[in-house]
Amino acid sequence: MTFSRRNFLRGAAVIVGAVSLRDRIWALAAPNGAGTPAPLLLGVDYYPDQTPEALWEEDSRMMADFGVTNVRIAEFAWALMEPSEGKCDFAWLQRSIDILHKHNIAVILGTPSAAPPPWLTAKYPDVMEVNAQGLPLHPGGRRFTCPSNKTNRRLSLAIATEMARTFVQTPGVIGWQIDNEFTLSDSPRCYCNACRAGFQDWLRAKYGSLEKLNQDWGTVFWSQSYSDFSQIPVPLPSGADPNPGLALDYDRYQSYANVSFLEEQLAMLRQKCPNHFITTNNVGLVDYINERDLYAKLDFVAFDNYPGFFKMLMEGQANPEGSNWEAILTMVAMSHDFGRSLKDGKPFMIMEEQSGKAGQHTFSAQPEKGQLRLWTYQAVAHGAMGVNYFRWDTATSGAEEYWHGVLNHDRSPSPGFEEIRQTIKELKTLGKDVLESQYVAEAALVFDYDCSWAVQIQPGHARLSYLPQVVAWYGTLSASHTGIDVIVPGAELTPYKIVVAPLPYVMSEAHAQRIRDFVRNGGSFVAGFRLGVKNEFSQIVRTPLPGFLRDVMGVTVEDYGPIYSEKAGVKLSGFSGAPDGTSGLWADVLRPVSAEVLATYTNFQHAGKPAITQNSFGKGKAVYIGADLDPVSLARVLPTLAGSAGIRSAMDLPRGVEMTVREAGRKRWMFLMNHKSEAQTVKLTNPGTDLLSGQARSGEIELAGYGVQILQMS
Ligand code: GAL
Repeated sequence: MTFSRRNFLRGAAVIVGAVSLRDRIWALAAPNGAGTPAPLLLGVDYYPDQTPEALWEEDSRMMADFGVTNVRIAEFAWALMEPSEGKCDFAWLQRSIDILHKHNIAVILGTPSAAPPPWLTAKYPDVMEVNAQGLPLHPGGRRFTCPSNKTNRRLSLAIATEMARTFVQTPGVIGWQIDNEFTLSDSPRCYCNACRAGFQDWLRAKYGSLEKLNQDWGTVFWSQSYSDFSQIPVPLPSGADPNPGLALDYDRYQSYANVSFLEEQLAMLRQKCPNHFITTNNVGLVDYINERDLYAKLDFVAFDNYPGFFKMLMEGQANPEGSNWEAILTMVAMSHDFGRSLKDGKPFMIMEEQSGKAGQHTFSAQPEKGQLRLWTYQAVAHGAMGVNYFRWDTATSGAEEYWHGVLNHDRSPSPGFEEIRQTIKELKTLGKDVLESQYVAEAALVFDYDCSWAVQIQPGHARLSYLPQVVAWYGTLSASHTGIDVIVPGAELTPYKIVVAPLPYVMSEAHAQRIRDFVRNGGSFVAGFRLGVKNEFSQIVRTPLPGFLRDVMGVTVEDYGPIYSEKAGVKLSGFSGAPDGTSGLWADVLRPVSAEVLATYTNFQHAGKPAITQNSFGKGKAVYIGADLDPVSLARVLPTLAGSAGIRSAMDLPRGVEMTVREAGRKRWMFLMNHKSEAQTVKLTNPGTDLLSGQARSGEIELAGYGVQILQMS
């Protein structure tokens, strides 16, 4: 059976009626000619626009042999699709899709707004973004246009609309990726006049009156009281720092502007292509755009995943020893958990997965043997329903000639080719049971864009930033092999036994109330230092700290301050047998009201004063970690607190071995993944069956270097 128009329409009918997202997508992709949906969307990112047409047939044939079920194409092909304004040429794209379809390869179409063509920027120069120094960007790269600019929006929507009209009935087309990686560029935010006008409108809608805005921002400081919305500036260089409330709102506005840019295309696609799915791609935990908002109206979350590239970037930074595979494992696992949590546990897709050496002007190393397979399984273990490898072939021109695909520059198989082929083959045998199962998470870690942005605006300490704190807490908590959801404020807290919030600097009353209810009803909440310092307008609260959560935490903050060269000592008296630790960048000095003391500072003027406290509140517990604990101490403290909250570590595992659990009814699967190059031994506490080999496993099992085992537990 071929992927005919009839089958396509049958698939489309399934979408309308299907309950499960996976079913909808699998039904559309059904690529194996046997009418059985593939267990996952398994594809490559493909660039027919960059490949001589004479090679397209060969490409499709090779992809089909390779086992691929879909491609994503055209997201940077605006200049070819619309060579001059209003004159579209989709014939080449149609031919390419037809060839792919003939080989049963389904197509995700990208709308091309991330790379407008030269005719556009030449004719409409005001579409260009203005950077944080007030200078316009120039054409020649990508992601250089303003999200608020009406011309940019009109022309982006126009080309996307023409694409939708042209391909709505085209057999093989299953879905859309809108744009590409919003805000991910050297200049993530725009400060142009269109953005200034957009910001003023957004503020008008948000505050209603200037009186409220002036009050909530505290504009009386430095004579900034506004008497007309049109006076409000954007935070460009101005001799001194901007008002923090204005700066935080500007970050929110930029996020909103990008999301609403996407939503214009989304509304059109929903209307024109009701049977196609729609998503966009980004990299996990980009903190320039609120991804909860970005994906809110899309069908599923899609992320790009480049662990090796990320390692290369880290190695170039001040702390290269932090760039080991364990650190990358943490970052990647956290991104996957974030991607899954953004839509409350719905499966997500990896739209671009590293397939070889990566880089723009420098190369990352070739992934070690086994790592490409490991990274794929890691995504699946955390809830991915699809993986597209970036990219099929390797570009021989353009800024990404160094970014290797599945084929080399000369179209020979790349070093990762065979490993990816085998992985795809294996994944197809896993079956829907395990792939449809739920990721089990009893713990939640709060990732709050407001905190991240407000700390960027006023870090309080030159070396303090939000993301490293979040990663450190996630890594420490995940070491106890508990499932973690990475949630944003506003998410439902009731499913969790413990909720942890590192560096919770901004805290609205509404968020505080959710936490209060959670603890009152029996939950455990653990907050890091700088809790509740600011309200959501980025004003410092006028109450003793920790602001809105004083009652829940049962403490006040007596003093606080940065720590520079000499660290503060911390005695972990409430954690039996724990050696003394240190506080690196910050110390909140706590004064218990009803809380008990779990740790104290040991030196300087605050010696003997509380550093960590625990309060019973309602049926639950609230712990305040006022110190910026060193990694060893944090690794002692957080898992102990998770244990007291009722989280049982399923097994003791060697370092570098990651475990996730998936459940469906009474069935349970355990994914074991070794992120180290050497083999490691795991002691199973319960017997299981290796899903890939069908063999029984119990007692000690060996995981090869970068090895993976999926055990169905009995
Ligand atoms: C992604 C992006 C792709 C390509 C890839 C490799 O972030 O979406 O278009 O640039 O990285 O650099």
